[in-house]
Amino acid sequence: MNTIESVTDKLANIFPNESEIPSEYAYGEPVHQKEYLVNGEIKIWNGAVQDIFSPVCIQTANGTEQKFLGTTPLLTEVEATDALNAAIGAYKNGTGEWPTMTVEGRIRAMEAFVKAMKSKRTEVVKTLMWEIGKTIKDSEKEFDRTVEYILDTIEAYKKLDRSSNNFQFEQGIIGKIRRSPLGVVLCMGPYNYPLNETFTTLIPALIMGNTVVFKPAKIGVLLHRPLLEAFRDSFPKGVINVVFGRGRATVGPLMTTGKIDVLAFIGTSKSANIMKMQHPRPNRLRSVLALEAKNPAIVLNHADLDLAVKECALGSLSYNGQRCTALKIIFVQKNVVDTFINKFVKEVEALKWGMPWEDGVQITPLPEPEKPGLLKALIEDAEAHGAQVINTGGGTIEHTFYAPAIVYPVNSKMKLYYEEQFGPVVPIVAYDKIEEVIQYMVESNYGQQASIFGTDNDDVASLTDNLINQVCRVNINSQCQRGPDVFPFTGRKDSGEGTLSVADALRTFSIRAMVAAKDIDVNKEMLTDIIKDRSSKFLSTDFIF
Ligand code: G3H
Repeated sequence: MNTIESVTDKLANIFPNESEIPSEYAYGEPVHQKEYLVNGEIKIWNGAVQDIFSPVCIQTANGTEQKFLGTTPLLTEVEATDALNAAIGAYKNGTGEWPTMTVEGRIRAMEAFVKAMKSKRTEVVKTLMWEIGKTIKDSEKEFDRTVEYILDTIEAYKKLDRSSNNFQFEQGIIGKIRRSPLGVVLCMGPYNYPLNETFTTLIPALIMGNTVVFKPAKIGVLLHRPLLEAFRDSFPKGVINVVFGRGRATVGPLMTTGKIDVLAFIGTSKSANIMKMQHPRPNRLRSVLALEAKNPAIVLNHADLDLAVKECALGSLSYNGQRCTALKIIFVQKNVVDTFINKFVKEVEALKWGMPWEDGVQITPLPEPEKPGLLKALIEDAEAHGAQVINTGGGTIEHTFYAPAIVYPVNSKMKLYYEEQFGPVVPIVAYDKIEEVIQYMVESNYGQQASIFGTDNDDVASLTDNLINQVCRVNINSQCQRGPDVFPFTGRKDSGEGTLSVADALRTFSIRAMVAAKDIDVNKEMLTDIIKDRSSKFLSTDFIF
């Protein structure tokens, strides 16, 4: 068990000296990025820049300081508009080279990209780790999972194409149905999965023939720099444009033009709503959104508590709880709550704190500068309404490091009961009757996932049926998570719009379009000749292996 002395001691020594960083993980000199990508050209920016600091602090002669990683361009409306115009030009109202390219052609471009991307693994992974404080193991996993996602997307696209290469005959009409692109996509990802989650929208958007303006989030920016050349060299000019800077300066002006056809955004519902409302013709805007969540773990009194504790600790505190799928509130039935808490505190106290490159580390510094203060305020609010931090040293702040805090007993008067904390704070609620938890889910603004822990088949089955229309994934005796990426990932209410999985995303970023002809001889002859001469890409029956 932790004591306050051991916690103080651990925190006092949590940040290293520069010389203590193993050479293979050392960051090196700051990177001053000037490049951005517009219309197939890597342009150089000489204007204002954003300083990038790591959540990792270093002990220096001047005290503990956040590691300075470099700078990124703070582009303006002008460059963002250039990027939009490039994407519009490449789409050319659906007649551009990319939207009309054969499926094979687009697959070849994507294969070239993934090959070039793989060659940048070391650089991207190391920058990812330093920029967002994700453990080296998870940073590597994020990169590899993204590569796998692209390869799976290529396979899914082939499968989709194979299923649509036949003609259909219905009621005297010959039909050829395929999926077509939607237009210009504005793509923005989150800081917690800056590569993976961004690419789960960017890649399907591109492969379906759309053109893209991509703007990384505020945090997790430099890691995209090594990929600019791969983007430039793999796709026709203007198909993918990458801009950097503040959302207000770059994204707002683009939305107000009404020329964005799809908004692909992973972040908060507040930002999503602002952007959607900026679009002058909302009926033309399609949105693909992954937003906040407050996924509950529900521990029934017959649960295997050891299993529940392990999954709840993993679910609530992997990457410091900074996952949209994290367990953000734990409901435990009253007659087992003491035992659960006892075991849970031990499990959480055993998690290793440290720097992201350390072996076996689980809790690392937080990249959002305002986060420790926000978490502190949530805990103060909970304390004012009768809860306490029940693990020793929980909630202690050391610069960017926040010691995970378990808060109990949480109730409906507290902000922690409703609000997404997105950080290492775990609220526990004791409940009497399962109806209280179901009602919580009914009234919640969020509807992404839930986890049920129990061993009684009837109880688990009945709770599953009660929850499945409140959320989009019910996990049994397992933490909430997005993967495997072939499974649908979506949310109800304020948690999302549209479905993302390898296969679903291809549908999300496209629309069914068809050619129809009366089943008469003149049409049949014409279609036969078109197919034989390969004079139309849409009417093609080529089979891709
Ligand atoms: O931030 C949300 C991520 O999509 C979560 O993905 O469940 O695989 O960590 P994960």
